[in-house]
Amino acid sequence: MNTGEVRADFPILSEIIYLDSASTSLMPEPVIGAMNEYERNYRANVGRGVHRLAQFASQRYWDAHRKVAGFIGGTEGGVVFTKNTTEAINMVAGGISWKPGDKVVTTLVEHHSNFLPWLRLRDRGVEPVLLPPCPDGTFDTGAFEEAIDGTTRLVAVSHASNVLGSVLQVKEIAKICGDEGALLLVDAAQSVPHMPVDVRDIGCDYLCFSGHKMLGPTGTGVLWMRRDDLEPMMLGGGMVETVTTEGFTCAAGYQKYEAGTPHIAGGIGLARAVDYLQAIGMDKVRAHENELTGALLDGLAALDRVSVYGPAKTGSRIGVVSFNVEGLHPHEVAHILDEAAGIMVRSGEHCTMPLMKHLGLPQGTVRASLHLYNTREEIETLIATVEEITRIR
Ligand SMILES: Cc1ncc(COP(=O)(O)O)c(C=O)c1O
Repeated sequence: MNTGEVRADFPILSEIIYLDSASTSLMPEPVIGAMNEYERNYRANVGRGVHRLAQFASQRYWDAHRKVAGFIGGTEGGVVFTKNTTEAINMVAGGISWKPGDKVVTTLVEHHSNFLPWLRLRDRGVEPVLLPPCPDGTFDTGAFEEAIDGTTRLVAVSHASNVLGSVLQVKEIAKICGDEGALLLVDAAQSVPHMPVDVRDIGCDYLCFSGHKMLGPTGTGVLWMRRDDLEPMMLGGGMVETVTTEGFTCAAGYQKYEAGTPHIAGGIGLARAVDYLQAIGMDKVRAHENELTGALLDGLAALDRVSVYGPAKTGSRIGVVSFNVEGLHPHEVAHILDEAAGIMVRSGEHCTMPLMKHLGLPQGTVRASLHLYNTREEIETLIATVEEITRIR
């Protein structure tokens, strides 16, 4: 991978060190270009008109779904464009015909987006079961074997933790779900942008992720589903085949789940982001980030007064590295990193309050998160600046 060439597509990187890609990634020029091209040259609504622009825009929007599906091996099943991962997960939680007594198995490392929708189902008699992680953020699949049984309707787990970076063994979990007749939802918000992900290989029923974390536009996300048997959350234009005063029939395919005018430029931009990542190769992205993550883990681990959380080695983790400096609030550290060295990191609870409580970290952590455009020099600057902080504060 030619990092220099990649970085030229992200001009802001000449001014700052961006280590907050787990929140939202930067967006390269070709993606901005694809969105501008739609807005300037063929802006029209999709799936409605017969005029030239409408036809062209509809084709591009349809192609975008096909491309995104191909990126995750989802040529079977359906890809629906959503606002983000949160909306995708809520569509599953709201679209299943739950019965009192159903169980949902999830974990304590989940982002609130993959936690609150399941807690709310208590109102409908559904029991959420919450599995705690091992101290380094990984899971023993035995815990899933014990928790998943014939009453488990759905298992909802993140593929990679947005705090600890740990990668969960989703293939093994899928196998257990298959044996017990439970559905599996994988929150892939932190995996799809950084490693090859294939829904056929995992064997899940639903996969959710965000376009804005994978070089795509904000306001874009994806729900892949093996079967389109969810009740649609929204009703309205674009999602129906026929409507009478007595009722309606739904359109086939993704349209059923995309009522109203969608984020057309966003969908087209997301497809361009997929092209961009595929041209580089997700194996190369993963290898590059692994190398930087290893250097970051080693560098931080060597510093006095610094605690690092999550797996200590790169094999079972992604480039999301949480740490704290003894005696300093995470927000304070994040402010100093920005002021002293132009380094952007996230600090606080990372939308995982139950996890922070479990870890005994009420103020949260500082979180550095990488993407393909980061360099070894940037990692060294981060480590040197954290070291400086430990010496002077
Ligand atoms: C693991 C995980 N799940 C869900 C989300 C929610 O993503 P979004 O805000 O795009 O809906 C995030 C965002 O950080 C995340 O890291």
